[in-house]
Amino acid sequence: MSQKSYCTAILPAAGSGKRMGKDIKKQFLKLNGKEIIVYTIEKFEQCNEVDEIIIVTTEETIPFLWEIVKREGFQKVVAIVKGGTERQHSVYAGICAVSEKTDFVIVHDGVRPFVAIEDISKTIEIAKQKGACVLGVKTKDTIKICDEENKIIQTPKRDFVWCIQTPQVFKKSLLLKAFEKANKTGFVGTDESVLIEQMGFDVFVEEGHYDNIKITTPEDMMIAEAFVKKQIKKEVIIYTDGACSGNPGAGGYGAVLLYGDKRKELSQGYRMTTNNRMEVLAVIKALEILKGQCSVTLYSDSKYVVDAIEKGWVKKWKANGWKRNQKELASNIDLWERLLHLLEKHHVVFHWVKGHADNIENERCDFLARKAIEYGNLLEDEKYP
Ligand code: C5P
Repeated sequence: MSQKSYCTAILPAAGSGKRMGKDIKKQFLKLNGKEIIVYTIEKFEQCNEVDEIIIVTTEETIPFLWEIVKREGFQKVVAIVKGGTERQHSVYAGICAVSEKTDFVIVHDGVRPFVAIEDISKTIEIAKQKGACVLGVKTKDTIKICDEENKIIQTPKRDFVWCIQTPQVFKKSLLLKAFEKANKTGFVGTDESVLIEQMGFDVFVEEGHYDNIKITTPEDMMIAEAFVKKQIKKEVIIYTDGACSGNPGAGGYGAVLLYGDKRKELSQGYRMTTNNRMEVLAVIKALEILKGQCSVTLYSDSKYVVDAIEKGWVKKWKANGWKRNQKELASNIDLWERLLHLLEKHHVVFHWVKGHADNIENERCDFLARKAIEYGNLLEDEKYP
């Protein structure tokens, strides 16, 4: 095992996304409710060898991306900088922002969200030994080199032909020299390794996986959706509600879970609690009984619950030592901790529904919660107040 080096990941995400043919930039398109760039950042946030992350994006999307970073509670993102006209210019903008103490630079396309964390680690490890390493897969197709008239002039032996992906990892000093030269000569490449190759240095390829696709065109988006679906096995719909007679007072929760043609109802009453606690607890109890990893669409009539999660308030409170503002602590910290833990396991999209507005399942949850209070057998809400 080589000694600990300081590694900075640069995620270029400043492309125009023209080939996707959508108004919204492809790095911000959503897969199962979450932006592509979020999936990508998550991988580097979770990779132990990565110390800091720099994202490169278009000038107008910098504030939006900071919002996303805060919402998700990413801790390693140290800078979001403005990109350039070509990918290489964007990567260079990222390089200009790396720390003094950076030993290795990892470049990874913002739109390659399915890279395996182990592959990032492996590529870093080889780069530490050899100076430069890129991830790739052997071509499945026969590759032909053609001239300007599309006449085939060469058929390279397939065993030696690789499709190069990212991450691409380089010793910082080597990469800086390569960029210096490219900036001088005006050479623009489609990846970083070509700049190193042009300097006469060796670059090694580490074998990765075919699912590390770059999402470029609408077809790629369809493949990406299938990958995300495969990762998340069960799709569950959940309705939740909390009720309290007096606030604080005796309270209860109700939940309805729908999975395929199966239906499950949950409820319980508590002797002394609050309405908000019951709203959050309803969500927790419903998620706690799920087996395996699930993709959940959750409907609650509590703005408190839905906004706290979807607007990223809870993650912000947690990042601020559970302070809601300069003076006040957040309420119900015990429950939010439990819920955040569950949200790491399942992918949950929260939706607000108007209460008492004839939504059958929401009405059913309300009924279950109220009946739970009436029926007695009330438990202690141990963490209240
Ligand atoms: O254009 P290409 O498909 O090579 O883009 C790969 C990655 O580089 C994408 O994440 C894209 O957003 C980014 N890029 C960039 N600046 C550019 C062009 C592309 O950061 N000018």
